[in-house]
Amino acid sequence: MKKIVKKIKNFKYRIFFDENISENIFFKNYLDNISKTFVIITSKNIKEKISIKIFNLLQKINKKVLFIEIEDDETNKNLKTAEHIYKQMLENNFLKDTYIISIGGGVISDISGFVASTYMRGIGYIIIPTTYLAASDAAIGGKNSLDCDIGKNMIGTIYHPKAVFIDFDNFKFLKENEIKYGGSEIFKIALVNNKKLFKKILQSKDISKEILIESIKSKLKIIKKDQNDKNFRKILNFGHTIAHAIEKESNYKISHAKAVYLGIFIESYISYKKKLLSFKNYLKISTYLRDNDLLDNISTMNIDNLIIHISLDKKNVFENILLSLLKKIGKSVYNVRIDKKFIKNCLTRCLEVK
Ligand SMILES: NC(=O)c1ccc[n+]([C@@H]2O[C@H](COP(=O)([O-])OP(=O)(O)OC[C@H]3O[C@@H](n4cnc5c(N)ncnc54)[C@H](O)[C@@H]3O)[C@@H](O)[C@H]2O)c1
Repeated sequence: MKKIVKKIKNFKYRIFFDENISENIFFKNYLDNISKTFVIITSKNIKEKISIKIFNLLQKINKKVLFIEIEDDETNKNLKTAEHIYKQMLENNFLKDTYIISIGGGVISDISGFVASTYMRGIGYIIIPTTYLAASDAAIGGKNSLDCDIGKNMIGTIYHPKAVFIDFDNFKFLKENEIKYGGSEIFKIALVNNKKLFKKILQSKDISKEILIESIKSKLKIIKKDQNDKNFRKILNFGHTIAHAIEKESNYKISHAKAVYLGIFIESYISYKKKLLSFKNYLKISTYLRDNDLLDNISTMNIDNLIIHISLDKKNVFENILLSLLKKIGKSVYNVRIDKKFIKNCLTRCLEVK
């Protein structure tokens, strides 16, 4: 099994890659050694094709396993779902030595990470991400979050998984849209910190293994500099203030992956209008997004409502809207203070011309 190991403070990040991991001896031994009891958190969509194989493997090596299936659309990424999981684990007598195995996209890994970090004050967990977005981003870096009525990702912790196992076979079950938009976080990572990766993306039609691995390495490098999101890691928020507002305003009908492309488009425009990014670079980004048909039509969205969501973003400080923006392709800045009126003008322009 190929692996990336990155030491971040006193913690070693371990990310393994292979095909068909449920048949892999290393994977089997890994699970055999870490615990006697496991809880698999997964969803209906992936249960039969993916998760059941891991369940069977755990049974074969005589582990106590509980299978918890949840609805994995964004509207269920909340405390109610977390409570449902805690309850099942408690009722079935799962104690502190339990390991959670998260099998799914970013919704499943966010919920699983949150539950792992809070159940009995914290238990071990591993992630098997099954979407490109989760493999490139949600599973990497230890952030987890739940949504609440007020906004997206408002509740959460930073709690690292003991390991991440990426099985390339799992991506073959993805629907067309999950593949089409699944590279949005990779595109973001390239824009904020890796110009070479940006060039590779422009030259490639798909999300290749090489692109995925390069993107993970880039993210780990950023996290190594600022594990707790106090300063440099904030560059990863590029595109996200607008993306989260769009998701919320659409009542989560627009997926996170799609919204991130829109957020990148609008925040690139803001970067250009703030005289941080050149027009040439803004054009390079917007042309890629248009040519690949990655911008959903949101021209009817209510801009005043978007501004309300943006004003409630958790990255703001003392009512100041703070954005992470681009200076160049591969270079970014964080904590840029932006006036509400300025954002409103940019939003109006972007929604018109898109
Ligand atoms: N914690 C972080 O650092 C972080 C980073 C980025 C995104 N996120 C979060 O991740 C979530 C988005 O994740 P996502 O894009 O993976 O979406 P998702 O988890 O909603 O999954 C998208 C859909 O694909 C299905 N699916 C997943 N794997 C599949 C497979 N292999 N085959 C077929 N169908 C499959 C799911 O059942 C779901 O219907 C958002 O909630 C976002 O906030 C978190």
